[in-house]
Amino acid sequence: MSASQTSSSHYQLQRQPAGFQLQRVASPFPILAADQVLIQVGAVSLNYRDLLILRNVGQDTVDGQIPLSDAAGTVIAVGSQVQRWQVGDRVAPNFFARWYQGKYQAQHYLQGALGGAQMPGVLAEHIVASENAIVAIPAHLSLAQAATLPCAAVTAWQALFARGQLQAGETVLIQGTGGVALFALQLAVAQGAKVIITSSSDEKLARAKALGAWHTINYRQQANWDDIALALTDGVGVDHVLELGGPDTYARSIHALASGGQIHQIGVLTGFGSTPNLWPLQAKNAQINGILVGSVAHFTALNAFLSQHQIIPVIDRQFAYAEASAAYDYLASAQHFGKVVINVQP
Ligand SMILES: NC(=O)c1ccc[n+]([C@@H]2O[C@H](COP(=O)([O-])OP(=O)(O)OC[C@H]3O[C@@H](n4cnc5c(N)ncnc54)[C@H](OP(=O)(O)O)[C@@H]3O)[C@@H](O)[C@H]2O)c1
Repeated sequence: MSASQTSSSHYQLQRQPAGFQLQRVASPFPILAADQVLIQVGAVSLNYRDLLILRNVGQDTVDGQIPLSDAAGTVIAVGSQVQRWQVGDRVAPNFFARWYQGKYQAQHYLQGALGGAQMPGVLAEHIVASENAIVAIPAHLSLAQAATLPCAAVTAWQALFARGQLQAGETVLIQGTGGVALFALQLAVAQGAKVIITSSSDEKLARAKALGAWHTINYRQQANWDDIALALTDGVGVDHVLELGGPDTYARSIHALASGGQIHQIGVLTGFGSTPNLWPLQAKNAQINGILVGSVAHFTALNAFLSQHQIIPVIDRQFAYAEASAAYDYLASAQHFGKVVINVQP
C-alpha cells in the first residue's frame, strides 16, 4: 500500500432496530489538509468505551459513526506545511484530537474524542490527523502493541503519574484485569509501587502476580476486598485506588483508602450514576481525581516511561481486520486479560 493508491475502507456503525452493528464500507481515499498527515493504520485496539458506543449506552452514538479511538500506524504522506513528521514515521493519534497540553477543557471532549459522535474513529485502513495530535510510538513496540496505548495506557498514566504523582513504595489498589487495569499495574510496578489487584478469576490473578502484583484478591470469592486491602496494609489503607467499577465499588474504594489517599475515578464497569457517601472521604482528608484519558503531552510522557522501562503491553488476543465484530464480541465476554487488538494490516 502507498499514498499513490486511490481506495480504502473503514467500518461504520449502522443503526439497527435495536442498537447498532458494524458495517465495513469502501471509503474515498483521504485528502490531506496542509497541517495533516496520512497514516496507514497498522493495528487498532478496543476499549470498554467502544462497547458502550456500540450499545448506545451513556454515549451519543450516531448512524455512520466510524468507531474506535486507538490506533498505531505509519505515516505515508504529509501535508504541505507539516514540519514534525515524515513518511515512514511510526505514530499513534491522541484520544483527544485537540487536547495538546495543559488543563482539560470541555470542548476537548465534545469536539475531539476519536470514535465519538463528533470525530471519526480509527477502525479504518487509512486515517488523517493534525500533525499536533499524534505522537511517535516507542521504538521497542510493534504497531499492534502500540495500538493499545492511546486510551487505556494514557488514562492509567494521567491518573497515577500526572495527577497522582505516584512514588516508589506507595500502595495502589487496582480493580479487574482489563486494559486500563493492567497498564496501571505495569506502570506502578515499574515505579516501585506495591500493587493490590482484584479479579473475578484466580487464573488472571496468577498472571497479574507474574507481572509484579504485590497481593491479589478474587472479588467474586471475597467481596470484602476493602477489608482485605486494609489488613494487607496493617490497617493504614492504600495510597491510590484506580476506581474502575463505578457505583458498586465506590464505597469499598473509599473504605480501603489511606488518610490523605487518592481515588482516581475512571470507570463505569458497574454502570453510571449513584452517589457515594463522601463523609468517609472527608474524614480521611482524601481526594477524588476525575480522569478523562489524557493530552498529547501525557501520551508523550507515557511513551518516554515505557521506553525507559521497556514495558511491553499485554495483548490477550489479536483479530484480523475482517473479524472486527468477533473482536467486539470477545471484549464483551470479558474473558480477556489486558488488551484486544485488530490487525488492520495482515
Ligand atoms: N475515564 C476515562 O478516561 C476512561 C478511560 C478508559 C477506560 N475507562 C473506563 O474504565 C473501565 C475499564 O475500561 P477498560 O477498557 O480497561 O475495560 P476492559 O478492558 O473491558 O476491562 C474489563 C474488566 O474489568 C473487570 N471488572 C468488571 N467488573 C468489575 C467489578 N465489578 N469489579 C472489578 N473489576 C471488574 C473485569 O476483570 P476480571 O475479568 O479480572 O474480573 C473485566 O474483565 C470502563 O468502565 C471504561 O469505560 C475510562
